[in-house]
Amino acid sequence: MRTIEQLSEQLGGLSGRTVLVRSDLNVPLDGSSITDDGRVRASVPTITELAEAGARVVVTAHLGRPKGAPEARYSLAPVAQRLSELLGKEVTFVEETVGERATSAVRAMSDGDVVLLENLRFHPGETAKTDEERADFARQLAGLADAFVSDGFGVVHRAQASVYDVARLLPHAAGGLVRSEVEVMRQLREDPQRPYVVILGGAKVSDKLGVIESLLSVADRLLVGGGMVFTFLRAQGHEVGTSLLEEDQVDTVRGYLEAAAERGVEIVLPTDIVVADAFSAEARHEVVPADGIPADMMGLDIGPDSAAFFVDQLADARTVFWNGPMGAFEMAPYAAGTRAVAEALVQRTRDGAMTVVGGGDSAAAVREFGYADDDFGHISTGGGASLEYLEGKDLPGLQVLED
Ligand code: 3PG
Repeated sequence: MRTIEQLSEQLGGLSGRTVLVRSDLNVPLDGSSITDDGRVRASVPTITELAEAGARVVVTAHLGRPKGAPEARYSLAPVAQRLSELLGKEVTFVEETVGERATSAVRAMSDGDVVLLENLRFHPGETAKTDEERADFARQLAGLADAFVSDGFGVVHRAQASVYDVARLLPHAAGGLVRSEVEVMRQLREDPQRPYVVILGGAKVSDKLGVIESLLSVADRLLVGGGMVFTFLRAQGHEVGTSLLEEDQVDTVRGYLEAAAERGVEIVLPTDIVVADAFSAEARHEVVPADGIPADMMGLDIGPDSAAFFVDQLADARTVFWNGPMGAFEMAPYAAGTRAVAEALVQRTRDGAMTVVGGGDSAAAVREFGYADDDFGHISTGGGASLEYLEGKDLPGLQVLED
């Protein structure tokens, strides 16, 4: 993957060049307020580097999953404002992706200026399934610029126009964010210091099947919490009440438990669960044994014994990768498990272990608990992208940068 420096050499300098940057600015919003600006902050160094080199920086990104047409709630306008604050300079926001307004905004740029185009997924070409449609949109994006910098690590697993197709049309480089994320993920995949402990949580086990399978060959210990744990408990033959359950994955998960036992990988499951009679902070809740979940209750967090045991299981880890909260941490009664894991990671970081937090929800959780980014070795901006990388898949947005 070419660096920005090498791209600059190739172009005879970046001053006066228009550079299209693909960032991942897909942040959680409450109305028009950004509730976690981690991805915006992570995108600042590359944009600054290019602007300071005199490039005219056209930033592109998506937000949410609109279906190829504008939807006000997915506008990048609030992100443009935050980006401008963080860059300490004006960001011109263009209310379309490609078209006359975008073209004239780009033509009006001076060296060092920054423009942010509206949500790419407002255009059907961005995520189109046919190569022709995507290529057509990519051609229009490429027509705005002289070069392309891929800096949205969170989207490199998507073969979308602004991630993949556009890189085939313009001289390109990987931005610093993509490069540093790939280096961390490569180390986790190929060369982790041991013991290597992985903590998986989040709602759906089906999102994580591939990564669980490959982690069984790499990790020494796998701690499982979050909504996905109930499919594991069911695979062990326990009742899970009204908890999240993916019945169609029970057999697969049972296979993982058997494979782990054969390979000597420990899969650690909670022994107690915080259950509630509704998905609400006000619901009646209590702690029960993991094999004694009442039929009318749902599990919303790992229990205190499990949290203490998970912390204990992390005590000797030299490498930790954490993806997915242990419970519904947004509601105070169900936050303790996730908080305990976060605290344990901070401690491991202080003790010199390599700690990586991946995935939007876990990253949002640690920030909500008041931790700083440097309390951890690395907070990845990629959720699905980091999991697919660890799974050993070829990611189109990285492959295309290799030529
Ligand atoms: C993410 O949130 O993981 C990335 O921004 C990718 O978003 P997507 O899953 O909607 O493609």
